[in-house]
Amino acid sequence: MVSQKRRLVILGSTGSIGRNALEVVAKFPERIELVGLAARRNARLLWEQVRQFAPRWAVLTDETLREHVPAETFHPAELRFGESALRELAQEPSVDLVLVAIVGAAGLLGAWSAVEAGKIVALANKEALVLAGPLLLRRAQECHAQILPVDSEHSAIFQLLQGRNPEEVSRIILTASGGPFRGKTRAELENVTVAQALNHPTWHMGPKITIDSATLMNKALEIIEARWLFNVAPEQILVQIHPESIVHGLVEMRDGAVFAQLSPPDMRLPIQYALLYPQRCPGPAQRLDWSTLRALHFEPPDLATFPALELGYEVARHGGLSGAVLNAANEVAVEYFLQGRCRFLDIPRVCRDIVNTYMQQRPLQPTSDASTYTLEDILAADRWARQEAHRWLKR
Ligand SMILES: NC(=O)c1ccc[n+]([C@@H]2O[C@H](COP(=O)([O-])OP(=O)(O)OC[C@H]3O[C@@H](n4cnc5c(N)ncnc54)[C@H](OP(=O)(O)O)[C@@H]3O)[C@@H](O)[C@H]2O)c1
Repeated sequence: MVSQKRRLVILGSTGSIGRNALEVVAKFPERIELVGLAARRNARLLWEQVRQFAPRWAVLTDETLREHVPAETFHPAELRFGESALRELAQEPSVDLVLVAIVGAAGLLGAWSAVEAGKIVALANKEALVLAGPLLLRRAQECHAQILPVDSEHSAIFQLLQGRNPEEVSRIILTASGGPFRGKTRAELENVTVAQALNHPTWHMGPKITIDSATLMNKALEIIEARWLFNVAPEQILVQIHPESIVHGLVEMRDGAVFAQLSPPDMRLPIQYALLYPQRCPGPAQRLDWSTLRALHFEPPDLATFPALELGYEVARHGGLSGAVLNAANEVAVEYFLQGRCRFLDIPRVCRDIVNTYMQQRPLQPTSDASTYTLEDILAADRWARQEAHRWLKR
């Protein structure tokens, strides 16, 4: 049962999604009670958030901070450290709703814990579904948890599917801005800098997802996310480049009718939709300005320049542990690129090589049969791919 006022925990509150979520929370004091916040190591910002929102619990998962951050400075909030504290926060019995806004595979722990405790899970962390989609969704069913997407494209599709017969849907269309390198050739991408790759034209996001948007790996991860979340075949998922980032998703019905969700590129809307679901209320998100809007453009993605996209389809088709492998290889490569230790085009190269190695070594696995592998298998695949990626990148 969900109480009238939703008791919310935000995992990853110091990040881009976390900070946007707090703006939404501040707007709805009568509907949302913030009871817990968690981050990895940004103690200063977490402390400021605790001062402003007075949650009951705060968590820093980086254990080494225990020595340096005095718990009493967070008083009256209770400050805890470590991953076990994060798990406990996600499973706290008085909590109704958990927003998982942690970046990367690290988000799986919070998502899994919240699902096992039967919470409503507002899931911004797409990596959890890329790693463990079928397993996580099956566990959600078993534990009566509800997963609500926060990713703007998936929120759009989720909204568009409300009240529709899934059998009448022929395709879903995910839009992509194209990132900072839309229209460039592969040769032009050889020597792009970190600053250029971080300069996203329409969205202001954390560094990892911004680089993923520049390689289009973000869209590859979203294809896999959509495949599991909406239980559609990879062939039913189409990606269209849409530089204005106003149309976030479209649903094509079998009679040819197409429905779209439009709003300015502002994550506060999909966050609010998930936090207040199914209610809609005036919130802090920007509105479309029809007096200035003139045109919306669409074009097919350039698969030769952005090979990551094809990897997304392959992994969505293959299933099994390949999502964990792709995600881990990508996380390591993005980290290297951000540190100036590899080139931009090495990111899709390392991912391609490691996914190929994985697929050649292991037989094809059933795409949606979660009973053939376990969470431990996923974590082992993640570790294996990280080691391989380090080896590849140090060559
Ligand atoms: N940003 C967007 O607009 C957007 C849109 C759609 C989907 N998403 C998805 O939302 C997720 C978050 O993205 P973001 O852009 O908000 O990332 P971000 O700005 O880099 O923030 C990441 C957050 O996760 C926390 N964190 C990282 N590792 C952690 C760990 N091991 N334990 C606990 N907390 C940890 C960080 O804490 P510290 O600050 O202490 O390191 C920070 O609060 C990603 O999965 C992304 O794909 C983001």
